Amino acid sequence: MIRVKDVKNIVILTGAGISAESGIDTFRSEGGLWEQHRIEDVATPEAFARNPDLVLRFYDMRRERIQQVIPNAAHFALAELDARWRSEGRHLLIITQNVDDLHERAGAQRLLHMHGEHLKALCQACEVRSDWRGTMIDRPPCPVCGARALRPDVVWFGEMPYHMPEIYAAIRAADLFVSIGTSGAVYPAAGFVRDARGQGAKTLELNLEPSQGSHWFDDARYGPATEVVPEWVEEILG
Ligand code: OAD
Repeated sequence: MIRVKDVKNIVILTGAGISAESGIDTFRSEGGLWEQHRIEDVATPEAFARNPDLVLRFYDMRRERIQQVIPNAAHFALAELDARWRSEGRHLLIITQNVDDLHERAGAQRLLHMHGEHLKALCQACEVRSDWRGTMIDRPPCPVCGARALRPDVVWFGEMPYHMPEIYAAIRAADLFVSIGTSGAVYPAAGFVRDARGQGAKTLELNLEPSQGSHWFDDARYGPATEVVPEWVEEILG
């Protein structure tokens, strides 16, 4: 059992499952995103080079969709935990694989997007990232350099995730690692639980069902994120 009063430094990894009940498809469920689009058709640099219109249209659609949905009780619970712990000077970091902005809209502040963000554009000419809410299919100019060379600021398969040194430093310092709504199918995130265990952290999984790496967790609670996450946060906050 994880003793809540001993916990001082939490690292939380989130995945598509935390946003599912807000109406965003997960990646690997039946009827999920990849059912309609093969990964290699939309989420690799090769796909972008081969068929930029398909890839830009796909991400334009996703960008529009995330602006129509709202954070759910799980996002709000984590934001509350972040705020309370911050006010007490305790460490916490949310690492999300999600490219939506629902954690920040719920109010979370200590947050890293390791797979990029839908609401940002990356200019392939000047390499500057800009906030972006509109479409890219019409090849708009980069707001910084004017080049018509924008791409979604999303990490594709074969590309390096963002913030890795900061993430590994946080995992090294964690005494509790919590994984929420992720299938444990995509590395390096799928390996964080082992890294956390390796340096002595307790590990907890909150997911709809056991993930691929479920045997690495000391404790697990299975159910919809909007139920299990608020329940767990309530326990932590006492
Ligand atoms: P997946 O779609 O692989 O996994 C989602 C997980 O959430 C599954 O284990 C589901 O059982 C669980 N789940 C579904 N609904 C849930 C709910 N209501 N409450 C709690 N859990 C629920 O998504 P990720 O693990 O996030 O990468 O995928 C990881 C990465 O693969 C993504 O970031 C993306 C993708 O390729 C990139 O785009 C680079």
